[in-house]
Formats: sequence, C-alpha cells, structure tokens
Amino acid sequence: MKKIIAFSGSNNPDSINEKLVQSIIQRYSEYDIRFIDLKKFDAPIYSQEIQSNGIPQQIQYLYQIFEESEGFIIASPEHNGLPSAFLKNIIDWLSVVTQRFFNDKPVLLLSTSPGATGAKTHLGILAKLVPLWGGILKGTYSLGSFNENFDTSSNTISKEEELELVDNRFKAFISEGTELKSNKEVVQNYFKAFQIGDLEAVLKTFHPKCYIVSVKEEKRPTEQLHGIYRTREEAKQFLKNIVNLFDTKDFTVDTVVQAEGNVVVAKGTFSHLVKSSGKLFNSNWMQWCLVEDGMIKEYRFYEDSAALLEASNNELVEQ
Ligand SMILES: Cc1cc2nc3c(=O)[nH]c(=O)nc-3n(C[C@H](O)[C@H](O)[C@H](O)COP(=O)(O)O)c2cc1C
Repeated sequence: MKKIIAFSGSNNPDSINEKLVQSIIQRYSEYDIRFIDLKKFDAPIYSQEIQSNGIPQQIQYLYQIFEESEGFIIASPEHNGLPSAFLKNIIDWLSVVTQRFFNDKPVLLLSTSPGATGAKTHLGILAKLVPLWGGILKGTYSLGSFNENFDTSSNTISKEEELELVDNRFKAFISEGTELKSNKEVVQNYFKAFQIGDLEAVLKTFHPKCYIVSVKEEKRPTEQLHGIYRTREEAKQFLKNIVNLFDTKDFTVDTVVQAEGNVVVAKGTFSHLVKSSGKLFNSNWMQWCLVEDGMIKEYRFYEDSAALLEASNNELVEQ
C-alpha cells in the first residue's frame, strides 16, 4: 500500500482523536501516510436542496483525494454513542458523490475518549457500515482512558500492551487480503484450532486482556480447571488445565450464532476421558463470548459439572 490518508472525525481544535491519528503517523513513519485535516474542508450541513445546487467544491476535492489514496486510517470521536455530527456530515456528502466512496480500499478504524471504553460503542456501528461505503474493513482499535494511556508530550500511546494491539491492527491493515474477520468467524476459528489441538492458535484467539470464566465465576487454585482466568497469560494455564485433566475424545460444535453487539453464542457436545478415573465425561456445553479487535475478550463456558463429578469417581474433585 503506497498512499494512505489519515484523518480524525473531530472538529475540535484540540482533538484527542487527532492526537491519536498523529501518533500513528509518527509510529509508522516508514509508510506514506498523509494527514488530512477535515476541519479545512468547508461543507454545509447536508441537505438535498443544497445538493440540487451542486456538491460543494471542497467535498469534490476531498473525494479526489480519496480516489488517489490506497487506504484510510480514521480516528473517530463518539458523541452519545454515535459518530460526531461533523464526521457524519462529511460521510453524507461523500455518499452522494458515490455511495462506495472508499472504492474497495482498506480501512482501519480508530477511536479514543477519556472514558474507559475508548468510544468503542460507535466504532462498532461504523465498522458495520464501512462495507456499505465500499471499504474493506481491516481492523478496529479503541484506546480507552486517553488521559492515562496517552503521553501528550511525546505524542505516543504510553502503555506497552496498547501499543502491541495497535501494531497488530496496523500490520493487518497494510497486509494484502486480510479483511477483518467477523465476530462469528473469530469464534469459529477458535473452535477449529481447539478441535485440531493447535493450542498456540487457540491462545492467539484470546485478547491479551481477556477474562475467562470456566463454569464457576470465582477465584481458583492454579491447577483447578473451573474458575476465573484473567489475561492471555492465564489463558495458557486454562488450556494446560484442560489437557492435564482430560483426554478429549470428541468435541462437536452444533451452533455458533452472532448475538447482539459483539456477542457470539455457541453450543455443542463433548466427550472427555477423565485421566484420573479413566471414565468418560459426556456433556452438552454452552459458550458465551464477547469479541473485540478480532479476539475473544470475554469468554464464559458452561458444562454439566454434575456429570464431571460422576465421571470423576463421584469424588468432589473441585471445591
Ligand atoms: C455531546 C458529547 C457527547 C459525548 N458522548 C460520548 C460518548 O458517548 N462516549 C464517549 O466515550 N465519550 C463521549 N463524549 C466525550 C468525548 O469522547 C470527548 O469529548 C472527546 O474529547 C471527543 O473526541 P475529540 O477530542 O477527538 O473530539 C462526549 C462528548 C460530548 C461533548
């Protein structure tokens, strides 16, 4: 990708989303990323009447820049759970030049806010609409708690783990043919990796800051399977505990459904040989996942724990 344009969807002169986008330009300076200041594009609030007198020159000029570019990085502020009216207005104007104004080119969506969620509510909405505007969505990234996680003196994100996420998103953005997987595909890939026993691949599907609940939502001794695991590091222990406890004979996935928001729900059956007893533990299972940035952020897995007790010689193996 040669020419990339980057802009913020804010008309705030001291915009934190502009700071975020500038930090990205600075971090990946070996790429040809041109900052576009949308505030300089004078566009009235869209109306059909104004359009009937012609599309504003500034919008036509902006569209020309879009046509010449090969990719888009957009940092979008959130106002009441939605994109800013300023950005929406630019989108409305571009869409009357042509509905697919991103012209089948890659798009990376960013957002930040002083709040913990980093304005990700509206980013999910924009992400769904990017294909309608002809964009190939390559990734989304939201930086939460801007004031704590961004160093304005050096103009950089100050948390290593956040930089790791940004690097992953940027890498996906500039590589060929890696359209952002749907949330459902993320979970389906998790199952595929699990079914062939590729535990490294399973681990990669977990978000570095994941929260895992295996049946019981409570603190757990390290070796115990059921309980809470936090972070990808602890997810390693989760997988280790499964392998130590069971020899999996069968694991079927019957249903994977995309629910509201970024939630994916799945159900199926498994047959584990309990290593300590030599008995089969057969169960239905249900899994609830919250997907973020193409990874599983929150994961809740439920199974027939009474059947596990039975398959473990009726001894209470876990308190
Ligand atoms: C009217 C209004 C509504 C807002 N709504 C949200 C919101 O829904 N979610 C959020 O994270 N921040 C919200 N904020 C806070 C913005 O994230 C904050 O003002 C931020 O600086 C906007 O980004 P910008 O500086 O790039 O314009 C809101 C701010 C205003 C003024």
